[in-house]
This record gives sequence, C-alpha cells and structure tokens, in this order.
Amino acid sequence: MKKLNMACIGVGNMGRALLRGMVTSGAVVPSRVFASDRNKQRLAELKRELKIHTSSDNREATRRADVVILAVKPQILHKVLDELAGQVQKQALFVSIAAGYPTGLIEQTLGDKTRVIRAMPNIAAMVGQAATAICAGRWAKKSDIRVATKLFETCGTCTTVDESLMDAVTGLSGTGPMYVFIIIEALSDAGVKVGLSRQQATALAIQTVSGAARMVKETGKHPIFLKDLVTSPGGTAINALYSMEKTGLRADLMDAVEAATRRSRELGLPLSGDGQQET
Ligand SMILES: NC(=O)c1ccc[n+]([C@@H]2O[C@H](COP(=O)([O-])OP(=O)(O)OC[C@H]3O[C@@H](n4cnc5c(N)ncnc54)[C@H](OP(=O)(O)O)[C@@H]3O)[C@@H](O)[C@H]2O)c1
Repeated sequence: MKKLNMACIGVGNMGRALLRGMVTSGAVVPSRVFASDRNKQRLAELKRELKIHTSSDNREATRRADVVILAVKPQILHKVLDELAGQVQKQALFVSIAAGYPTGLIEQTLGDKTRVIRAMPNIAAMVGQAATAICAGRWAKKSDIRVATKLFETCGTCTTVDESLMDAVTGLSGTGPMYVFIIIEALSDAGVKVGLSRQQATALAIQTVSGAARMVKETGKHPIFLKDLVTSPGGTAINALYSMEKTGLRADLMDAVEAATRRSRELGLPLSGDGQQET
C-alpha cells in the first residue's frame, strides 16, 4: 500500500474526507498522492493540509497513478472519463464513488479490461466513521477488492456487496446520515417545544442518538429487544411509541430509503446522445 501512487479527481466534500482518512492514517504516502479539481482554492488548502501534490489538470494528476479515485458528481463523471480515456496507465485501478454510476459504463468509456471498483461511502467519512460498501466490476481482481477495502477502512467500515445491491446501499447508508441529521434536529426541536434550551436540547439529542447506536452495536441485541427494555407498562416510552406508530415514522423512513434507491438507479440510466442524464 505504501508504494501506491494515488490520484483523486474531485476534492469536494467526499474526495477531501476520503483523502484525509487515507493520508492521515498512513495508508498512503502524501508524496505519492495527486489530487485534482477545478476549484483551485480547495486544492491549495488540501495541499497545505496534507502535503500532497495537486493539479487542476485531471490527466496530469492521473498520469502515474496505480489507483484513481473518482469523486466527482455522477452527472460530471462521463466528461471526466472521456477526458481520461486513452490517457490512463494500463494497470490503474479505478475506484468510483459516484452514486448510481455502473462499473460497466466506466469500463465501456475507459476501455476493455479496465479494473473498476464501485464504492458507496457516506459523509461520516469526514469524521472517520463512514459505512462503505464496495463491489467489483467485471475485470477487478480479488486483490483490488482488498486494496479498496483497506483504503475505505481508513475512513470507517467497509463491506463487499454484489453490484445489483449498490443502489439499495446508496438509499440506506450512502444517504443515511441525512436521515439521522433530521432525526437529531427534530428531537432538538421537540426538546425546545417541551421547555429545554436549544443548546441543552441539541446536546441531549446528539448523545441520545449516539448512545443508542452504540448500545445496538455493542450489545449485539436486536433493536426490538432493547426497545422492550425501555417500555415499562403505562410509562413514557410506550406512550411515545404509540404516538410514533400513529404518524408512521417507520413507513416514512422506509419510503425515504426507497426514494433514494430509486434516484440512485435513475442516475445510472444510460447517457443520452448529448451527454446528459436521461432523468
Ligand atoms: N455527499 C455525500 O453524502 C456522498 C455520499 C456518498 C457518495 N457520494 C458521491 O461522491 C461524489 C462526490 O460528491 P460530493 O458530495 O463530494 O460532491 P462535491 O462536494 O460537489 O465535490 C465534487 C468536486 O468535484 C469538482 N469537479 C467538478 N467538475 C470537475 C471536473 N471536471 N474535474 C475535476 N473536478 C471537478 C467540484 O468542483 P465545483 O465545486 O467547482 O463543481 C467539487 O470540488 C458524487 O459522485 C456522489 O454521488 C456523495
């Protein structure tokens, strides 16, 4: 891993977070990392922070790369791939984090036998706590899966799934932090409604969500078992639960995950002749 030459195209929210994890963990050596983006200020800041090389020329950044992380928006990815086609190292592994974008489309543009891994991390990579799922393209080897897993594990957890499940992963965990941000905000509002200060309500909501998540993880118990622990007869929790069931919080969350999954699938639809997504 330490000998890997890496390039990352696009250092917005996700590209930056992933590079931070990979470089600061020591998985890759800063002098072997090249980041490119069209935003020069972002590049300058990242260069100062991580001591990596930067360029606003995607081809220059990828020229010597063994691993190329594609971290631009799905709608832009086809342009970037067209730019790189024919220019890339034959042995380079391409790791795309673009929502909905199938490995087959990348292989088709970059040329037959291109090794591609599709990944879906989430924004918690910013704090080293992403839940990432990856899948292999047609030409990727087992060793490519191992390399990608190690790289994403510098930013949280990483699991392998079949490509047919990547849109579902995008709907659940790729989009997932947003559901929890809204839940925290709603709990904070609720706390204010029942008389707490905003500051106290937010702090209590954050710790409650993080404590409950840790409890599910560390006990290994089914959430329903833990729910039963806190719902005493005639108590506050069972009354709260009854209210939530009437408004359909579970169905709302399931609908949201389904909507995000559907949108991820749409983003992967074949490109139309003018290079625009057919959605
Ligand atoms: N955000 C999430 O929660 C999340 C989670 C999982 C996966 N993803 C995936 O991660 C990818 C990046 O998302 P993001 O949220 O990090 O987006 P972002 O913040 O917009 O970052 C994309 C970066 O790419 C730059 N860029 C645009 N066109 C370029 C080009 N031709 N060459 C080089 N750089 C270019 C953008 O510059 P400008 O700002 O100037 O356009 C920006 O700095 C997307 O494909 C998304 O599906 C996102």
